[in-house]
Amino acid sequence: MKIIGTGSALPHLVVTNDDLSKFLDTNDEWIRTRTGIQSRNILSTDTITELAIKACQDCIKNAGISVSDVDYILCHTIIYDAIIPGLSTFIQDELGTDCPTLDLNAACTGFIYALDIADSLIKAKKAKNILIVCAEETSRFVDWTKRETCVLFGDGAGAVVVTEGGEDCKFRLKTQHTDALICGANYGNSPFNKVENSEPYLYMKGRDVFKLAVLNSIRDMEHVLKLAGKEFTDVTYFLLHQANMRILDAIRGQLALSEEKFPHNIEHTGNTSSASIPLLLDEMNKTEQLKEGDVLVLSAFGAGFTSGACYLKWGK
Ligand code: ACO
Repeated sequence: MKIIGTGSALPHLVVTNDDLSKFLDTNDEWIRTRTGIQSRNILSTDTITELAIKACQDCIKNAGISVSDVDYILCHTIIYDAIIPGLSTFIQDELGTDCPTLDLNAACTGFIYALDIADSLIKAKKAKNILIVCAEETSRFVDWTKRETCVLFGDGAGAVVVTEGGEDCKFRLKTQHTDALICGANYGNSPFNKVENSEPYLYMKGRDVFKLAVLNSIRDMEHVLKLAGKEFTDVTYFLLHQANMRILDAIRGQLALSEEKFPHNIEHTGNTSSASIPLLLDEMNKTEQLKEGDVLVLSAFGAGFTSGACYLKWGK
């Protein structure tokens, strides 16, 4: 499987750390030094559905294919405007196609899960060109009165088109249950099952998340490199979930690899959950940082605790 196109869309509203300090007891220095984030884009008058559609249109154009060539849409989103139907159905309708669509939720690891499913569908010859879009409205599930969490996140959508061919991709996916990162939901109003609504905002044990992220990311990357018969030094770029600059630095530090191998955009996007790797891929693709034959290892981690890595060669 290979990636033949990338696309992205960010909300028009840019929120700086100084903007946050106007209504939260926080400051630019704390946020920059603890997370690496300087600004993020937050949905205001635009919607996540609009962003997802924009990212997909951009991606299909970049792939040089037409909408009728897309024979599956995989959409990852933690939360959007509805429970049913899935966001992928709105995307499909707007694009003007009738191919199968599926919504997934594997938290911040979603892009790796979607790639793995796409790889399986392609190998099973059930699809040839698959559009994957990760569209996240993190601003909807953080508590904007809690400085510990809301400063970390941003909204956005990133997409790729994958197709048959290229070098065999290698995957490792893992889940290990923990309460380090959770967000409750409303349970409805059944007269037969009275359950108290849980906390509807994101709750995070920051230090536990930090440790789990570093541990699992390194283990997952080791695993896929072993499957590919490669060493860490053979890799051109490690594209990690842009969760927090200090997590990325800790992973890089433990592997004793150079900074250039770990591109990042968290400084101006914040943590966009599953959208972070496709957003970074698109930025690198459009600025021609990626060259034919580059060896990429993608690694993501998130609530669950889910984690996953993918080894792939860049080349259209
Ligand atoms: N501004 C100012 N002060 C703050 C802020 C803020 N935004 N947030 C917390 N503080 C304060 C705390 O209240 C605390 O004050 P206290 O000492 O008076 O109690 C102090 O800063 C230090 O808090 P700690 O939690 O000890 O800070 P720490 O150095 O551990 O950093 C952080 C917190 C950045 C969240 C860290 O634990 C971390 O990086 N964890 C990883 C979590 C993460 O990145 N999650 C990403 C989302 S999950 C995912 O994508 C997988």
